Amino acid sequence: MYQTLHWKGDANGSLFLIDQTLLPTEFKEIECLTAQNVWEAIKVLQVRGAPAIGVSAAYGVVIGLQEFRQTDRSAFDAKLTEVTGYLASSRPTAVNLFWALDRMSAVAIANQHLTSADMHDRLFQEANAINDEDREMCLAIGRHGSQLIENGTGVLTHCNAGALATAGEGTALSVFFAAAAQGKTIRVYADETRPLLQGARLTAWELQQRNIPVTVICDNMAAQVMKEGKINAVVTGADRIAANGDSANKIGTYGVAVLARAHNIPFYVAAPSSTFDLSLAHGDSIPIEQRSRDEVALGFGRQTVPDNVDVYNPAFDVTPANLITAIITERGIIRNPSAESVATHLS
Ligand code: MRU
Repeated sequence: MYQTLHWKGDANGSLFLIDQTLLPTEFKEIECLTAQNVWEAIKVLQVRGAPAIGVSAAYGVVIGLQEFRQTDRSAFDAKLTEVTGYLASSRPTAVNLFWALDRMSAVAIANQHLTSADMHDRLFQEANAINDEDREMCLAIGRHGSQLIENGTGVLTHCNAGALATAGEGTALSVFFAAAAQGKTIRVYADETRPLLQGARLTAWELQQRNIPVTVICDNMAAQVMKEGKINAVVTGADRIAANGDSANKIGTYGVAVLARAHNIPFYVAAPSSTFDLSLAHGDSIPIEQRSRDEVALGFGRQTVPDNVDVYNPAFDVTPANLITAIITERGIIRNPSAESVATHLS
């Protein structure tokens, strides 16, 4: 089975990532030897998906400090601040990135007595812990979420919230993998997910690898497929969930949630607790990444928009909590998410 990211060696080793921009036609790993390599891999979506970005950034910190093992602690700490700030500037929406970087910084603050070399080893240990915990969280999300999926049903997902988006089995796709492992027969409809086609390229590839029936549809076909009665549940991932349950995910997710409500289909969000940002009361304050014109106008090298025509390319949107039937986390299921039910669940 494929491994989205893995580390080779001790604290002085390097990070290997599947280059997701090449899938599904080419399977190739890249090696990150500098913090800049990790920053660029996140920026251009060679590694993507909220949890995978967080784990990669944690290892990016380890890489960025490798040459500071022999310095005094103040130089080490100054470099740590620089590297975490740099990696935090790669993408703005997925809170797992900031969550992982904050966790790495907190470990350094709590261990002022360590030498730089020992501190670096400790940071490596923390990155490994973030990686291991992510795997566990994915499995737990799959266990809880699979209860919501009935045998013989059709399910829809948007973008890619699979193993390629995490260090483990994924979030939304973990639910499907677990349901399939329990012997349930499901057919997954994968929105192709314009403009970068994470659904067509990545979700379809992952499901095919695991022999789970999958049908790719263009994003604008979802309403019709729902109307035809082919969809019994929608499950997506999330990049950041506000305290009241409003959930940011790949652009187009909000539209799918509206369509699901119109067709009386349950809409589930699957995400680990590291995706919640309790500092934001609601989703309007979630920063939405704006990406380049070329992704829409020159997608995969073919010009599809006339020169000089404006293009708007927000990478994410926010689904209001009132359209979400339940949020599935590694701790269980939050039905009818609200500020109260989210707070109770996470306390
Ligand atoms: O721009 P991307 O490909 O990083 O967007 C990814 C998503 O929107 C995923 O659904 C989300 O990060 C959850 S991944 C478990």
